[in-house]
Amino acid sequence: MSKSISGFSKLSKTKKIDWIVDTYFSNNKNAKSIIKQYWNTNEKLQQLHDEFIENTITNYYLPLGVAPNFLINGKMHTIPMAIEESSVVAAASKAAKFWLDRGGFKAEVLSTTKIGQVHFMYAGDKAKLTAFFNHVKPKLILATKPITKNMEKRGGGILDIVLRDKTQDIPGYYQLHATFETLDAMGANFINSCLEAFAKTFKAAANDFTDFTDKEKDIQVIMSILSNYVPECLVRAEVSCPIAELTENSDIDPVAFANTFVQAVNIAEVEPYRAVTHNKGIMNGIDAVVLATGNDFRAVEAGVHAYASRNGRYSSLTHAKIEGDRFIFWIEIPLALGTVGGLTSLHPLVKLSLELLHKPTAKALMQIVAVAGLAQNFAALRSLTTTGIQEGHMKMHLMNILNQFEASDSEKSKLIAHFKTHPVTHSAVVEALEKLRS
Ligand code: MEV
Repeated sequence: MSKSISGFSKLSKTKKIDWIVDTYFSNNKNAKSIIKQYWNTNEKLQQLHDEFIENTITNYYLPLGVAPNFLINGKMHTIPMAIEESSVVAAASKAAKFWLDRGGFKAEVLSTTKIGQVHFMYAGDKAKLTAFFNHVKPKLILATKPITKNMEKRGGGILDIVLRDKTQDIPGYYQLHATFETLDAMGANFINSCLEAFAKTFKAAANDFTDFTDKEKDIQVIMSILSNYVPECLVRAEVSCPIAELTENSDIDPVAFANTFVQAVNIAEVEPYRAVTHNKGIMNGIDAVVLATGNDFRAVEAGVHAYASRNGRYSSLTHAKIEGDRFIFWIEIPLALGTVGGLTSLHPLVKLSLELLHKPTAKALMQIVAVAGLAQNFAALRSLTTTGIQEGHMKMHLMNILNQFEASDSEKSKLIAHFKTHPVTHSAVVEALEKLRS
């Protein structure tokens, strides 16, 4: 059984590594050098990364790739993507090129409201609580002035606070449900600071509210926190073209392709088992851009999947239809993103990614991210409904298999050439490699 330790966070990085190696890697002589191999030789840069979190021992690399040729609302973009899955950037690039020749992507931000809540318990007369809330609401806003001053100067801030009765769900449970406009910031710190100020003022003012009995004065604040469910921070992206232009390959009938494609989307709309995988493919594109631009992909994931279930059944985030002779394919998703604050001005690669995207506003980034998701889904559905996913996927995975068997550069180039015309499977690659080596 491994040892416990107290005061670990106080140890130096070297001492932390020594403890880990002594405790867990007594049989692995390479452990320490694997950890250290990922240290950056630029000490200042390494220190910056060390200080992002507690107990950093090394860096964990993900490839940062780019997908060029994205035409979005008439403007060209090369999209940065941080992701480990071999086929994602290739699929995005292919879809971008395909739609570049068909008018590109159209995207629009539908709304930008974010939400935060103070959850509290109140045992007493609801009418009195409502009267108290109306009396205290201006004071809540006033209490946050030091926090909201700068945001207000730029046109954002608190939009509203309402009292919500949740006693049907839990006896005595109420909320201060607040809405915010956080402009180019994702806004988590701003919102949470406002909420904590609301909670403090609310509780203190309840104590002084003469209409309350002693019991009613004793409001219990359970927690104050933003919501990552942002169904009113929505973006929509769309592609469309005449059905006749939908296939590049004369073997595939465009009308049949369009119909099959729409059916594939319909299936994801009604069948949760399929919808989850369908949306996972969308998130391949979304998360990769969210990560590359220093945003919180866990927040985005949680919010997007909640949105996908908003009607009581988990469903597709994309939709498709045929209207006359046109094929139309679109996505509508909630995205709370920031292009200022957080990692955006700290991580050199995040700064570079944002520069690559022409230093977008949060709204522009929402559009780009939605487009990346739509493009990814288009690429996946096009493969799934025609060749099947494995052909393209395994082609991209070939390099991983070759690396797994430590193929040399010359073996790689020979086998890449060979598998241009042969189906890639794990065993076929192993066999071909063995043949080459014997
Ligand atoms: C794989 O990462 C993603 C797909 O499974 C998505 C889909 O099935 O639509 C190919």
